[in-house]
Amino acid sequence: MIETTVNGKPQKLDVDPATPILWVLREQLGMTGTKFGCGVAQCGACTVMIDGVTHYSCSTLTHSVRSRKVVTIEGLRGPDGELHPVQQAWSDLDVAQCGYCQAGQIMTAAALLKDNPKPTDEDIDGAMAGNLCRCGTYQRIRAAIHRAAELAKG
Ligand code: FES
Repeated sequence: MIETTVNGKPQKLDVDPATPILWVLREQLGMTGTKFGCGVAQCGACTVMIDGVTHYSCSTLTHSVRSRKVVTIEGLRGPDGELHPVQQAWSDLDVAQCGYCQAGQIMTAAALLKDNPKPTDEDIDGAMAGNLCRCGTYQRIRAAIHRAAELAKG
């Protein structure tokens, strides 16, 4: 049994410890917002935060999240259900095209702003380099991160 916390809720996971956490999130916990993209830690569609740091969940084994805090796109909203500033900015600027990569993009953007509340274009490009978008929404992603930084200032 692996004990961990997902989106603030303690979980006891009865799984093979070598199962990638992506599949536990999607199939055991029903959190399908985190997407399976390439499966080999190259595209970022499966990005989640573990103890505040982004990880590719397709390549993170469940035993490695023991006693840690996992946050998925489902856990990004505030305590009263309000959108995270990054989610609000994404909505305001209509960032998504097909949408497949976007949960991962949003998780990486949220992690960036947590550590760097006022990123430059260069900071954004560096932080987001591990999240690919086949639809090429990169310009809107960058604009939305700047907007989220403004929204987060309040
Ligand atoms: Fe389609 Fe990014 S919006 S892959």
